[in-house]
Amino acid sequence: MEMGICYGGIPTRIHNNSMGIRAYDYVEFYVGSAKMVAYWHAKAMGLDIVGYKGPETDSRDRTSFLLASPDNPNFKIMITSALQPETYDVQNFVNRHGDGVKRWSVEVDDVEKTYAKAIENGATPSEGPFKLEDKDGYVMQARIKLYDDAEINFINFDNYKGLFMPGFEKPRFNFQVNKQPTGLKGIDHIVGNVYINQMDYWSQYINASLDFETFIEFGPGDISTKYSALLSKVVRSKDEIIKNPINEPYDGLKKSQIEEYINEYRGSGIQHIAILTSDIITSVKNLRENGVEFLDDPPEAYYDDIASKDFGLTEDLEKLKELGILIDIEGKGYLLQIFTKPIGDRPTFFYEIIQRRKGASGFGQGNFQALFESIEREQERRGNL
Ligand code: FE2
Repeated sequence: MEMGICYGGIPTRIHNNSMGIRAYDYVEFYVGSAKMVAYWHAKAMGLDIVGYKGPETDSRDRTSFLLASPDNPNFKIMITSALQPETYDVQNFVNRHGDGVKRWSVEVDDVEKTYAKAIENGATPSEGPFKLEDKDGYVMQARIKLYDDAEINFINFDNYKGLFMPGFEKPRFNFQVNKQPTGLKGIDHIVGNVYINQMDYWSQYINASLDFETFIEFGPGDISTKYSALLSKVVRSKDEIIKNPINEPYDGLKKSQIEEYINEYRGSGIQHIAILTSDIITSVKNLRENGVEFLDDPPEAYYDDIASKDFGLTEDLEKLKELGILIDIEGKGYLLQIFTKPIGDRPTFFYEIIQRRKGASGFGQGNFQALFESIEREQERRGNL
């Protein structure tokens, strides 16, 4: 079955991979207080709260808020917290990691088939195919393990006509969130941080399980500053719908930012999600107005260097500079990107906002230097460098 996924404004793509993967679907966070984190995503990130599950809907052990982008209802974030000490999956996760991403989902043609194939290919099972059902039909899901405590979730909604999935209702309250529109259109890529010497293991695990391929890799010396370094490999579905970079720490003079993540997160896990926009200047301006904090602006010299190059930049460089947006030139194309500070209490998970121009397909390798120096300044403030 073919399904064109439209990220309103981003070109429609017909999927073409052996696992029947159509697109990214919801990402679920486990957090201490779902209502508070949902409010932040609504107010700061400009998402709408579109679904709710909790005691009022007969969910006694946990509460979940579903948020979606007003610019693309297929861009979905679920925020979940435990309502009881015995809700072990959530409580144990949050106790160890703090707030973080428990699972990211891909919509597939046939959950049972994709799951069976993944297991046959060597994926570690987490939860076999299960059906959630109500008067509006049913939703199928199945899960495989990823990193220490995360999961990849397969999902299919073809036989469901209700709101999101059984168990969810329209939110019964109104936060009266006053916010600027942020134009967020969907997930571009999701990045994991793993322990030293584990990057190859996890890239092979994902490549084998999901029939993905390694797109690019960065070895010793490719990504380093004076103090810290990392290794990185990007695995992706062969039709490029799903992109999953994986980082591991590498020896530098001081502590790698990946090592800081692993120490603070107490393990390997999801480092950041990159969100697509088709107008990064407006998105970042409004995200800033909504209260999102971004990493420090790059130095003046960074923009002087960009200004000296002729690559057909269509945006106003002064505006990019004013907003601290990074530019990575890539052959005939370029990408624009910016990184938030960690959104929670620990220096772990953050968001990236990204716009790809003229076919750019990379991940901002040219910006790593500027970016990491900025992260290091933050690390130093925390006494972790
Ligand atoms: Fe990224």
